[in-house]
Amino acid sequence: MTIEIIGTGRSIPPRRVSNQELADRIDTSDEWIRSHTGIGNRHIAEEGVAASDLGADAAREALLCAIDRGLVTEKTPEELALTVDLIVLSSATQDFFSHPATSCIVQHLLGAKNAAAMDITVACSGFIYGLETAAAMLKADFRRKRALVIGTEVLSRITNWDDRSNCILFGDGAGAVLIEKNDTSNQNAGQTGLLRTILGSDGSGWEYLILRRGGSRNPWKKGEVVEEVPAIAMNGQAVYNFAVGVITETLARIMKEENIALEDLALVIPHQANARIIQAAAKRLKIPEEKFYLNMEEYANTSSASIPIALDELNRSGKLKKGDLIITVGFGGGLTYGGNLIRW
Ligand code: ACO
Repeated sequence: MTIEIIGTGRSIPPRRVSNQELADRIDTSDEWIRSHTGIGNRHIAEEGVAASDLGADAAREALLCAIDRGLVTEKTPEELALTVDLIVLSSATQDFFSHPATSCIVQHLLGAKNAAAMDITVACSGFIYGLETAAAMLKADFRRKRALVIGTEVLSRITNWDDRSNCILFGDGAGAVLIEKNDTSNQNAGQTGLLRTILGSDGSGWEYLILRRGGSRNPWKKGEVVEEVPAIAMNGQAVYNFAVGVITETLARIMKEENIALEDLALVIPHQANARIIQAAAKRLKIPEEKFYLNMEEYANTSSASIPIALDELNRSGKLKKGDLIITVGFGGGLTYGGNLIRW
């Protein structure tokens, strides 16, 4: 039985904000941001555009991608959406607090009437967790065949634009993949698609990346005057150290346990948080930096959307060839981390 990615898509808001534009407003510079993070730009959603809008657009592109490549018999995204059994959506910026799930709104926008829908909240590790969750649920029931896995974020809505140590990092966007289960008696079965996933968490770091207000621990109170929009609070140094450690360990573990030599590995697709985190992990692992695909120069950190956006860029540009062995790896609030081993 294989779980293959048969379509990829992304949705990037057209409004592009350069480092210089931020430097015109707050005390920072293009040079500081580039040298400390590798970020050059970010895209910001128009007012009124929510995570479900970007997520549904990215998912529609993924459906179209599978149709254009002749991998399905359905002729339109609407027709193909009806064959989707499950939508797993990750977001740190869901349309609504608590419920409804943003995946349900996406299900409605796509007309995916036969799909179950669920959200997962593991911050930037969301796509990695989502892919494993969807794959496991397809495998669990022979009636389920196709799932959409979506990462979608409007981080600009939970960013304090006056906090220079934080606001320079984030951007908006969405990425999606359509996955399909194939039962095959082929002797190579199990050697393509999603091969292995490592997932982990370290809840002792729950305060290092946090949106403090609104939940049951710290609810809004009647009559309270809100002086600041609730925004991401971060212990940057602690997150940095955690990230370098878990990226290094996850990659090393997948390569060792799956017996993968460096020359067998086509690409590592990391969560796009900070180029320095990737450089530090690459150095520790003695993996050339060129093996890591980086696009944070254009999009900044789009949390759970960053890996599926990168997958879509690579897929559409032809940089991923059939049979390529790739590893996604990421970390996020919680704290959480993980990696997927995929044969394209
Ligand atoms: N422009 C100019 N100067 C700045 C800026 C800025 N934007 N931000 C901070 N500085 C200054 C600080 O005030 C400090 O000045 P000082 O020495 O005079 O006190 C100096 O630069 C160094 O500040 P540090 O915070 O020590 O800078 P550091 O090199 O640690 O970089 C950073 C900060 C980029 C946030 C880094 O810690 C980091 O990348 N951490 C990980 C962040 C991350 O990955 N977050 C993931 C978010 S999770 C998710 O994806 C939702």
